Amino acid sequence: MILGVPKESYPDERRVALIPAFVERVTKRGLEVLVQKDAGAGAGFSDHLYEEKGARIIPSRRELYGSSDVILQVRAAAANPARGAADLRLMKKGSVLIGLLDPYASKEVLHELAQRRISSFAMELIPRITRAQDMDALSSMASISGYRAALMAACALPRMYPMLITAAGTVVPARVFVIGAGVAGLQAIATAHRIGAVVSAYDVRPAVREQVQSLGAKFIEIELDSEGTEKNDGYAKDMGEEFYRRQRELMGRVVAESDVVITTAAVPGKKAPLLISEYMLKGMAPGSVIVDLAAEQGGNCDCTVPGETVTRHGVTVIGPVNLPSTVPYHASQLYSKNITSFLGVVFKEGRVDTECRDEIACESLLTREGRLVHQKVQSALGL
Ligand code: NAI
Repeated sequence: MILGVPKESYPDERRVALIPAFVERVTKRGLEVLVQKDAGAGAGFSDHLYEEKGARIIPSRRELYGSSDVILQVRAAAANPARGAADLRLMKKGSVLIGLLDPYASKEVLHELAQRRISSFAMELIPRITRAQDMDALSSMASISGYRAALMAACALPRMYPMLITAAGTVVPARVFVIGAGVAGLQAIATAHRIGAVVSAYDVRPAVREQVQSLGAKFIEIELDSEGTEKNDGYAKDMGEEFYRRQRELMGRVVAESDVVITTAAVPGKKAPLLISEYMLKGMAPGSVIVDLAAEQGGNCDCTVPGETVTRHGVTVIGPVNLPSTVPYHASQLYSKNITSFLGVVFKEGRVDTECRDEIACESLLTREGRLVHQKVQSALGL
């Protein structure tokens, strides 16, 4: 079987799905690896490095897709609104696609996948169970986003993070408030704390209190009934607008007293909850910074513009998109580990197992031989 790694075609995407160090893990399984010319260049991996590890470099994108039985990508199908659908048309009928596919985003793209009889596995759908931890691309990428968010805020803030006692005077530490202490939030807390900020955090799931405290941050208690905020799968529930209105009211004082607010609150499959209103910005000191990691899901802040930095009422509001791509070397390394571990589960006896014999394969299988087979996606999209 032939496995192809195309150059990512999403605008400004610098990651690559497979770095040279992981090529041998794939060839050992009996797969031949084709890599599109310059596929790793944006992340710092030259064609020469791939060749040294036994991959073959293919200059033409069309030829790469046309020759491959399995395609490994970072952003494909609906996760690449710019070129995802066009790329699918280059794939061989009956071939297999593995990547971040944004499965809930587009009925049309799902239709295209099915029509071309492509079997596809969405990395976002890999269950968050212990056995699948090394395949969990959502976690590895969220961790990078949290790290970057803390640094972006530090660079935009007209203050320093750490406390300094110098001959020229004392500098008080910056106060950083993180809303949403999932994977990205916890990494933002750890990074801000490491640089010396005084960090506090809040999450609707009370279970994260200890994790926040173990990173040296203060967990903010607010008088909201947190019963039923967490689903069985560990994710937060959609709590409805009245709950969020009350949350905004109760968090107002903490937000106003913070120099930096990093928001990461998300509810899978839903628009992100609105947790910082424009009115709340008026209470913040001029020069304060908000980094809204939920920008791509609609934003946690009223004033967020995805992909842009705006100033409202003296507050800098940053709405970053695709942050993992800004750390392409390590993002590609972690993603390569995720995707090769996943390949280890689905590639059995010389072929890709689309028969759902393994729980991880079964839950992430989106389309198989012309049909959308994922029930949650089916019902969420009313198909
Ligand atoms: P996410 O990206 O869906 O959401 C980020 C955070 O926002 C979550 O912690 C969520 O509780 C919080 N949130 C939602 N609404 C909020 C609100 N109104 N106010 C404040 N915070 C709000 O979540 P992520 O980071 O992907 O992780 C979700 C869960 O998955 C966690 O329980 C985590 O421990 C679990 N997990 C399990 C793994 C495993 O077992 N292998 C791996 C990674 C995560």
